[in-house]
Amino acid sequence: MKMWAGRFKSALNEQADSFNRSLPIDKRLYKHDIMGSIAHATMLGECGIIPKDEAESICRALSDIFYDINGGKLKIADAEDIHMFVEEELTNRLGQVGKKLHTGRSRNDQVALDIRLYMRDCVTEIIGLLSALVSTLCDLAETHAETYMPAYTHMQKAQPTTLAHHLSAYCEMFLRDADRLADCRKRINVMPLGSGACTTTSYPLDRNRVAELLDFPAVTQNSLDGVSDRDFAIEFVSDCSLIMMHLSRFNEELIYWATDEFGFVTLSDEFSTGSSIMPQKKNPDMNELIRGKTGRVYGSLVTLLTVMKGLPLAYNKDMQEDKEAVFDCEDTVKACLEIFTALLPSLTFNTDIMQNGASGGYTAATDCADYLVKKGMPFRDAHKTIGMLVRYCCDNEKSLEELSIDEYKQFSDMFGSDILQTVKIQNIVAARKTAGGPSKRTVLARVAKLKKLAERLN
Ligand code: ARG
Repeated sequence: MKMWAGRFKSALNEQADSFNRSLPIDKRLYKHDIMGSIAHATMLGECGIIPKDEAESICRALSDIFYDINGGKLKIADAEDIHMFVEEELTNRLGQVGKKLHTGRSRNDQVALDIRLYMRDCVTEIIGLLSALVSTLCDLAETHAETYMPAYTHMQKAQPTTLAHHLSAYCEMFLRDADRLADCRKRINVMPLGSGACTTTSYPLDRNRVAELLDFPAVTQNSLDGVSDRDFAIEFVSDCSLIMMHLSRFNEELIYWATDEFGFVTLSDEFSTGSSIMPQKKNPDMNELIRGKTGRVYGSLVTLLTVMKGLPLAYNKDMQEDKEAVFDCEDTVKACLEIFTALLPSLTFNTDIMQNGASGGYTAATDCADYLVKKGMPFRDAHKTIGMLVRYCCDNEKSLEELSIDEYKQFSDMFGSDILQTVKIQNIVAARKTAGGPSKRTVLARVAKLKKLAERLN
């Protein structure tokens, strides 16, 4: 029989009953639901809203239920949602006393509490995974501070840089992602219980005590908002979408770096797959899946934004749809961060190919122009002179490093023999000592800092 049976003449249609259920999705909230109920019952007892000894037996039974579920003794089934499951089980165990737990509470504020409790943990776990990823990238960067490669703009070779500089660019992104999640956690970390169905209750609840018991620094300040706010969930999925966007860009690069045409990286057998028909194939399935799963997370963001956009205040059943989107996003982001962190150390970077790539494509041209500027030529004139020099190289199939000093001098008598040193990729990179640049010292100093920032996330 349904808990609302008093008002109804007939039972709920079977199809409607199953359509209405959220248990298969929200059962993963059981721990947080029980934690929330223990705090609520404790407060009810302390405030004298229910007898103290009854509150104590409710808390004991709730904790037994938790251990029974955890130990596999109690299966979560046969209820509309996780809140009803726990309450029904409590009443089976305690009879009349169990029925007192829901005093001064609605499932509307209960579910708002549960999802906040759950997401608070989940955000902490994802920040931990980002920390591990950044540390792994920093280790890799440290070994590749002199692995030269081209930096690209428009996917055309632009200037020489190093793999360490490239890898640590992603560290910056993932650290911002962690920072965003930490900020989102502040807004998750507000206690909504006591909002009731929508306008609080007339019981003398001590909301701050519940907040204290559950380690929330604050309580929500408007009950209509308290039961109908899902901003924090949208914010979380949006932050996760950015993580996935960063992962996807990185994996896209690894996918084409692993092509025969590029050859910058060789994937390990452990983290790549073969083809069912082409015996020679070694496919970057993990990287492609990470790129592909980005779509799922963006999908969750659009789901949540769309579910919420037309909802009048306060709670509406539409909001039950929030959990599937949040959980799928959580599972996807965690799985992608974990596999990617595991895969990174297995990559073999083909440093010779990368280095050849760095010097091809006239990547020294900017430094040639800057050379003339340092000798006194205005930048625009230097740009034009080097443009002509590059055209000469193209016509004669020579690289800037291969030109003789006499050839340089044909374009400007400001060139001295030191130009031959200036155009070497090692020297070009070493000259970029400015903050954010690729010189070995600059990058390694930043990597050391990034490592500390990553450790501090935990
Ligand atoms: N399963 C519901 C949800 O996830 C719990 C709240 C139900 N509230 C209600 N008034 N029917 O949103």
